Amino acid sequence: MNKLSHSVLWIVTVLVTACNIQPKQEPIEEVIDRGLKASTEQALLMAKELETQNGRLPKTINKEGKLETSDYSWWCSGFFPGELWYLYEYNPTPEMKKYAEMYTDRVEEVKHITYSHDVGFMLYCSYGNGYRLTGKPEYKDVMLTGANSLATRYDERVGAIRSWDFNKKIWQFPVIIDNMMNLEFFSWASKASGDDRFRKMAISHADKTMLHHFRDDYSCYHVVSYDTITGMPHKKQTHQGAADESAWARGQAWALYGFTMMYRETGKPDYLNHAKHIASFIMNHPNMPVDKIPYWDFDAPGIPNVPRDASAAAIMASALIELSQLDKSTEAKSYLDFAEQQIRSLTSPDYLAAKGTNCNFALMHSTGHFPGKSEVDVPLSYADYYYVEALMRLRNQLKNKSL
Ligand code: GLY
Repeated sequence: MNKLSHSVLWIVTVLVTACNIQPKQEPIEEVIDRGLKASTEQALLMAKELETQNGRLPKTINKEGKLETSDYSWWCSGFFPGELWYLYEYNPTPEMKKYAEMYTDRVEEVKHITYSHDVGFMLYCSYGNGYRLTGKPEYKDVMLTGANSLATRYDERVGAIRSWDFNKKIWQFPVIIDNMMNLEFFSWASKASGDDRFRKMAISHADKTMLHHFRDDYSCYHVVSYDTITGMPHKKQTHQGAADESAWARGQAWALYGFTMMYRETGKPDYLNHAKHIASFIMNHPNMPVDKIPYWDFDAPGIPNVPRDASAAAIMASALIELSQLDKSTEAKSYLDFAEQQIRSLTSPDYLAAKGTNCNFALMHSTGHFPGKSEVDVPLSYADYYYVEALMRLRNQLKNKSL
């Protein structure tokens, strides 16, 4: 063989080898379907297990490795019924509807809660999805009662909803970034009741949060406490993050989701702009792992040997899919690509549990409250909820594109 044909052969061999070693990526449609099927199997097992335990709702796995449940009053009570409604939307069987209704009924008492801001999470995920899919008038009644309960926590002078009532010696009026998530419930309540008060409260809360919760790099504080006389912040701290000045992963996820949703609800360009900056902080962070599932805090001491938070990834993915739809700039594709990578990771055996394992939760490896040594590297009902929401959002987006 002469020198030239040897070189050609060598180049061809290298190219063929390179092509062969490229693993063929599973089409995203198949990933979505696999994730939704696995979530359906786990959710049905969970629903059957708790069927006879009146009023109980799944929460996490406890330190003994057993399923931990709660009653309606835990802030996460609405996520399992909400997940069941999404899975009913995916595959509308009578069995799934029966369980979605049964577990939704279990959170009805939330409508009277006035001691916490979490009413939006609890009722909008459960009753909100139920009402969206069935139009049952009794669901609307429960939600409007709940919206009025939540409205009792709004303070005119501060212009925001008070999140918590504990730590009164330290915080005069604590507002946590998570509270952005309740504004979708208020926006719905305005439309459903014709009472513009709810929408005004939501916008004021979002504006105040945009002004005071964020640092120059668009990362956010967990807790901002306001002086009730001046309406100005008197403390900026963390509760579930690594440090007051750190970027707690789920907090960044709530912020991204909250401002993206508020742009959808109001069309205010400031909210879109803000959401894009938050997305940029998250997506370009040097501590974001290759699989795009964040550590529990972007600044956690000990990275990379610290737990991840799959719940934060699921919330981010869901928000980024929506952001990619709302944003008309060239950056939209990067949001969708990032969300797809998160969904591929979450739907891999690294995070997605095998059938019948993980106490019947879909996802492994979330972190609830690391500093409180609670819910570290465990499944959480809201990780599963936002994972299924993200899968459904992406599925609908792909379906609409191919129509
Ligand atoms: N307080 C809600 C959360 O842990 O994200």
